[in-house]
Amino acid sequence: MSKQFLLAAFIVILLVAFRSREKPLFVAPPSWPQPHYDFNENPLTASKIALGRVLFYDPLLSADSSTSCSSCHSSYTAFAHTDHALSHGIHDSIGTRNAPALMNLAWKKSLMWDGAVHHLDLQALAPIAHPAEMGEELQHLTLKLQSTGMYNVLFKNAFGDTLVTGERTLKAIAQFMLVLVSAQSKYDSVMQGKTQFTLQEKKGYRLYQQHCSGCHAEPLFTNDEFAYNGLPADPKLNDSGRMKITGDPKDSLHFKVPTLRNIEVSYPYMHDGRFMNLTAVLKHYSTSASALPLNNPKLSLPLPLTPADRVDLLAFLLTLTDKNFLFNPDFAYPKKIIEQATKESERLRK
Ligand code: HEC
Ligand code: HEC
Repeated sequence: MSKQFLLAAFIVILLVAFRSREKPLFVAPPSWPQPHYDFNENPLTASKIALGRVLFYDPLLSADSSTSCSSCHSSYTAFAHTDHALSHGIHDSIGTRNAPALMNLAWKKSLMWDGAVHHLDLQALAPIAHPAEMGEELQHLTLKLQSTGMYNVLFKNAFGDTLVTGERTLKAIAQFMLVLVSAQSKYDSVMQGKTQFTLQEKKGYRLYQQHCSGCHAEPLFTNDEFAYNGLPADPKLNDSGRMKITGDPKDSLHFKVPTLRNIEVSYPYMHDGRFMNLTAVLKHYSTSASALPLNNPKLSLPLPLTPADRVDLLAFLLTLTDKNFLFNPDFAYPKKIIEQATKESERLRK
């Protein structure tokens, strides 16, 4: 073998090794269904995701610079809001719903508890414009971003020039939302044959398959549909859920089936945050009669779950916690990106 050949082979090996160290931007787990989101409409790039991440953490997006997306969606709690049952926005205003956990959004056909939003690219408009959330106008926000040196750098990196538009802003935020994939829980390892459930978890998994999987279906732990799970309406909030959108009385009190992934950390639970812990949720399913007729073959209340069953079921639910997702440094406050972009903008100004 010639020396040149060996050298060439060595270089190829180095290149392959280097490339495989580069993390792909979005990984759909092989056993999952195809994502609903059309990535051709908004092709992911590292610099757009970085811009979206900075925007997500920036209180500049609210009218009084007090509230960022992350104020209500914290990475350590699967991007849910755990201090309050109902969301808190600018001027201490209180919203009417519990901030849901954010993950695996590329697979969702509609967003919000009632499905009011159909496209992830438009989702961020809702909290930005909402008077009790961020209370800002998109037009005004683009002007604020345009006059910030750091965003000139970040928009140029992402889009090739410094122009800030509403569409660019929303698409960048959507890109950050899309990469929030949670698929590395103990449950996933068990399904891949890498580890095993304990006996108790296995019993809990069977109970889940029997009683819960009709709506909270594997592998996403939601069927992405609207359903009524038997709760009485809160008389103060009087939230009719899906009926608000369709006007159909059959949809009254129907809400989007939330995922059970990372359910351990995304308390409080339900659209209005009425339950503080999973024990209270399981008590509802196993001791309450339905407040209204259920008319759903997937659920009849109360479910026949003994206190021991509930403990087993809880043990299974805890296997859905994904620490790699919750503590992923790529999802946390983007300190380094902000520092670098700020430094770069100062250099350009000189
Ligand atoms: C004041 C608290 C608050 C702020 C700030 C906020 N959100 Fe939310 N978010 C909520 C609440 C509450 C809901 C559920 C609203 C509903 O169902 O009507 C929600 C829903 C969502 C959803 C839908 C998730 C799903 O599975 O249906 C996404 C995505 C989202 N928010 C992203 C964002 C982004 C991006 C920002 C910043 C631009 C943001 N949120 C700012 C409270 C907030
Ligand atoms: C008929 C469909 C259906 C079945 C079956 C069902 N659920 Fe639900 N579940 C829902 C809906 C809809 C909600 C949201 C209701 C709301 O917000 O008012 C929900 C909410 C939850 C929540 C709160 C999630 C959050 O993020 O706030 C948990 C936990 C939960 N269910 C667990 C279970 C368990 C455990 C079972 C089986 C014992 C089960 N569910 C069976 C439809 C169902």
